[in-house]
Amino acid sequence: MTTLFDPIQLGDIALANRIAMAPLTRNRAVEGNKPGPMTVEYYRQRATAGLIIAEASPISPTAQGYLDTPGIWNDEQVAAWQSVTQAVHAEGGKIVLQLWHVGRISHTSLLPDGEVPVSSTDQVANASTFTRDGFVPVSQPRALRDDEIPGLIEDYRRAARNAIAAGFDGVEIHAANTYLIEQFLRDSVNDRSGPYGGSIENRARLLLEVVQAVTGEIGAGRTGIRLSPMTTFTAPLDSNPQALYGYVVEQLAPFGLAYLHVIEGETGGTRTPDGKPFDYAALRRTFKGPWMVNNGYSRDLALQTVADGQADLVAFGRPFISNPDLVRRLRDGATLNELRADKLYGGGAEGYIDYPTLAA
Ligand code: PHB
Repeated sequence: MTTLFDPIQLGDIALANRIAMAPLTRNRAVEGNKPGPMTVEYYRQRATAGLIIAEASPISPTAQGYLDTPGIWNDEQVAAWQSVTQAVHAEGGKIVLQLWHVGRISHTSLLPDGEVPVSSTDQVANASTFTRDGFVPVSQPRALRDDEIPGLIEDYRRAARNAIAAGFDGVEIHAANTYLIEQFLRDSVNDRSGPYGGSIENRARLLLEVVQAVTGEIGAGRTGIRLSPMTTFTAPLDSNPQALYGYVVEQLAPFGLAYLHVIEGETGGTRTPDGKPFDYAALRRTFKGPWMVNNGYSRDLALQTVADGQADLVAFGRPFISNPDLVRRLRDGATLNELRADKLYGGGAEGYIDYPTLAA
């Protein structure tokens, strides 16, 4: 019987166990949108995860939507990330980077020359973001022109190349949580006509072009993807999530990706949104490759899910923030440290690199 603690091969990446650290925004980047020394220590402490999925990282200056997030668009950022990947590898861990474009979830004060955010639409989201002045409503976006899409795809390609240059074992394409790619996918947001709007095929086009570019650049065996079919967060659900994501996964299957990472239910919230069933198992049957699940997994549920073969691996978010040695604690059935929720976003070492291990 397979357990959570058994090794697994994800494409080209060999993991020591089936416990992943989910990507987590912590807003502690230093000047120049670079990970600093504290971030090196934070990931080093968590290197016993089978796989660390490093926090969502903007692929270009226009892709960012929150203060102090670490980017992957220039050489200085590549050099800074090298310190992170070396530290994780020195501990025997594996680490991929999540490639992020926020789309309309941004604010002019965060963008170069006060640019407006770009999206599939010019409709503003009912959401706020974190800026120098604290939480503020997001800015009115402008709809990308079709002739701007090739440049956007190139930004993803460069980010993937940079991630490998920075020593990452691969990348995870962020197609979840109602950011740019999902703003194109969903008919609740995408009001375009032309090749990127209208039918499911057209709304999925951007995602598939990104996957084509990234896998062409670094290989499918080093590329994973994250989806969140039932998350509302900053946008309503699609009118037919099962059909939309069914098509997406059917199109993804032939690429032979390293893994597919699905957030079940509402990100950070309920796993079973009221009266809104979704058949995740159907997606898995279509995908066939390594299947990673996430969202509010307890130890028991994670053990059961992998033992039953319902997923190949489980990603933990908040428990990994407060428990650097989460793998050991899960193995031993040890109690978990309490999360300090007021230290999640921004600030210093407190609530970041000072959570105790069992050994301490
Ligand atoms: C956030 O910063 O709140 C955030 C970032 C990335 C996500 C979800 C939430 O995928």
